[in-house]
Amino acid sequence: MMPAVAFADGALEDTPLLSVRGLSYHYGRQLGCRDVSFDLYPGEVLGIVGESGSGKTTLLSCLSGRLPPGSGSIHYDMAGHGLTDLAGLSESELRVLMRSDWGIVHQTPRDGLRMGVSAGANIGERLMAIGARHYGEIRAAALDWLARVEIPANRIDHLPQSFSGGMQQRLQIARNLVNKPRLVFMDEPTGGLDVSVQAKLLDLLRGLVSELGLSVVLVTHDLAVARLLAHRLMVMKSGEVVESGLTDQVLDDPHHPYSQLLVSSVLQV
Ligand SMILES: Nc1ncnc2c1ncn2[C@@H]1O[C@H](COP(=O)(O)OP(=O)(O)OP(=O)(O)O)[C@@H](O)[C@H]1O
Ligand SMILES: [Mg+2]
Repeated sequence: MMPAVAFADGALEDTPLLSVRGLSYHYGRQLGCRDVSFDLYPGEVLGIVGESGSGKTTLLSCLSGRLPPGSGSIHYDMAGHGLTDLAGLSESELRVLMRSDWGIVHQTPRDGLRMGVSAGANIGERLMAIGARHYGEIRAAALDWLARVEIPANRIDHLPQSFSGGMQQRLQIARNLVNKPRLVFMDEPTGGLDVSVQAKLLDLLRGLVSELGLSVVLVTHDLAVARLLAHRLMVMKSGEVVESGLTDQVLDDPHHPYSQLLVSSVLQV
């Protein structure tokens, strides 16, 4: 077990939100990820870094219930039930978690948005999925979230395909955060964006994480993003975690030769 985490106000939180042990996944004979273990505590941002093909997306897909792990366990602190083995949940119980407790921000916004419905509907349907029925309230919430992610109100009835890549990414974030999830999975949330758009999005994410007290598992190959957002880091190579620790420790004083290579300028493209 990891030690309890001390928060700024001095409170100690010793029940993890997510507890992962010995998690492995193979695509046929191809290794996806192997023997991954960690605990994620409420309010914590865990960054997963590593080169292309190191198993980051595979791990995230297992954690968020989209791939069934080949071996190992994932326990999630379900409201009212405590730590619960995800493998024991039915399809419908898992779907409830996905649309109420969790947010999943995909690397490609198209995968995380419904391209055939308006921006407002993309946000509103997440609220309707958890029981909202009042049209005026749903529309007001959609407008509020469009403003938070700096999308002009007059775009509310437009389809996402008329949006730029950066706007689509921000819409995806609004859609995923509107129902105040406890846990958000993000796969390269700033990937493929201009540097200036990236910087604004990072600011936004940082603000939302602290304002909403989100717990986040953040996949990125961008160490600057990891430095800015993540409290702790796991470094992956060839499907395995080769180093983990507090973000500043890992980035400023990496111990594993691969982490040293990663933080040296050689691999920072
Ligand atoms: N659908 C699939 N079928 C077969 N092998 C796969 C599949 N998806 C991923 N893999 C393999 O699993 C390993 C891990 O891939 P994964 O996509 O998890 O890496 P990643 O760290 O997310 O990479 P990237 O930074 O490029 O997104 C790689 O060897 C990859 O080729
Ligand atoms: Mg990936």
